[in-house]
Order: sequence, then structure tokens, then C-alpha cells
Amino acid sequence: MELSVNIDHIATLREARKELFPDPVYAAVEAELGGADGITVHLRGDRRHIKERDLELLRKVIKTELNLEMAATKEMAQIALKVKPDRITLVPESPGEVTTQGGLDLLNLKENLKPYIANLQENGIKVGLFLDPDPEQIKEAVRSGVQYIEINTNEFSKNPKSRDELIKIARVAKAARREGLTVHAGHGIDYKNIKGLLTLSEITSFSIGFAIIARAVFVGLRQAVNEMIGIIKGAR
Ligand code: PXP
Repeated sequence: MELSVNIDHIATLREARKELFPDPVYAAVEAELGGADGITVHLRGDRRHIKERDLELLRKVIKTELNLEMAATKEMAQIALKVKPDRITLVPESPGEVTTQGGLDLLNLKENLKPYIANLQENGIKVGLFLDPDPEQIKEAVRSGVQYIEINTNEFSKNPKSRDELIKIARVAKAARREGLTVHAGHGIDYKNIKGLLTLSEITSFSIGFAIIARAVFVGLRQAVNEMIGIIKGAR
């Protein structure tokens, strides 16, 4: 059971003043010292937080797994092939959104993602898709050839006491495992609502950003990560 720490919001803070600090590269090292199994960044088309400079330095500096979240565009593929992160999570992206709104809708995509995914994989990068907990999406994910999915936990996170959302996630996680896909989860997860998700043995990795960075303001990033690691690793 692993934790990839999303450090985008360290860059959000930097960009609020167009400064050179706080540096997400420094944050990544602190997250690793706190026990993170990996570092996640989302390079957005508008570069509102993470920049190419961050990605390039992170590739050189971090010792754990680098996960790049990105939209499936030509521009991003070029950057990814240059930087070669360990894995890429493809996400939908629309201009102006505060954060990622929902998973990719594979049933209604205009473009065929299969060759795009294959090209990244041929270059040694693992590829996954960020999807809502919908069994129909899983069938399409299998056809696309990805190695993993990340289940969007946003709805669950808003209402963690609802059994329905957890059951939906559990069903999709099981279906994905049956098809041989690795299952990750992310979006809106915090120190409390993660407990329900920890009961699902199919999930092998969590991607968590906002809650950890927000806690880090008070206790420091290394400790904020370490507390989440304690919850995750202590659960199994
Ligand atoms: N997974 C994906 C695909 C995301 O887009 C985000 C948000 O950047 C996260 C996980 C992390 O979400 P949060 O910041 O709410 O923990």
C-alpha cells in the first residue's frame, strides 16, 4: 500500500507571488524523507503551478517514483518523452477548472488513446487513466492497453459515510483487478476519509495532495507526509 504525494500546491504558493520559493523540488525531498513512496505533479497546459523546470529537476533529484499527471495532448507527449517520468496518469483537463473535474470519459472520447498510450509505454513509461468509479469505463480502459487505473474518489471524499460510493469504488476496483489492471485511488482524500478506502485491498496506491500540503502549513511537510504514511501502512 503506497502513497504518492502530489506537490502541485507548493508550486501554487510560489506562483501566488511569482517567486522562486517555495520550491516543489525541495518539497519532494521533504516528502520522501517523510516516507512518501512517490511524487506526483500535474503539468497543466496553462502552467499555473508546476513548470517544465520543476519536472526536469524532479526527474534528476527524487529517489522514489515520479508520476506525471497530464492531458493526452501532443505537447505533453513531447515533454513526457524528454523527461521520462516513471509513470503517467492521463487526466481530463479543461481551462479554468479549480481542480480536475471527474475522470476521463473513455466512452465519449473523440480521439483513440491506444496509439498515444502505446507510444509512451514503448519508451519505458507506465501509463494509467484517471477514471470515475464506473464499470463501463473499466472495459474501455482494458482495451486502451494501460497498466493501471486511478479511481476518482472525489464523490466518496465529499461524503465518506455513504456506503453507496464506497461500494461503487469497491466494485470497480475488483473488476479492474480481475482484468489484470493495478488499482490506484485519488482526489479529495484526507486523514479521515482515507479509512474507508483502506478497507479495499485492491487499492495499492493513493495519490494525495491538498490535505497533506494544507497540514504541512502547520506541522511541516515531512511530518504531514509521515502522519499519512502511518495511517496507510498501519492499516495493513
Ligand atoms: N489524482 C488526480 C488525478 C488529481 O487530478 C488530483 C488533484 O490534482 C489528485 C489525485 C490529488 O487530489 P487532492 O489534491 O484532492 O488530494
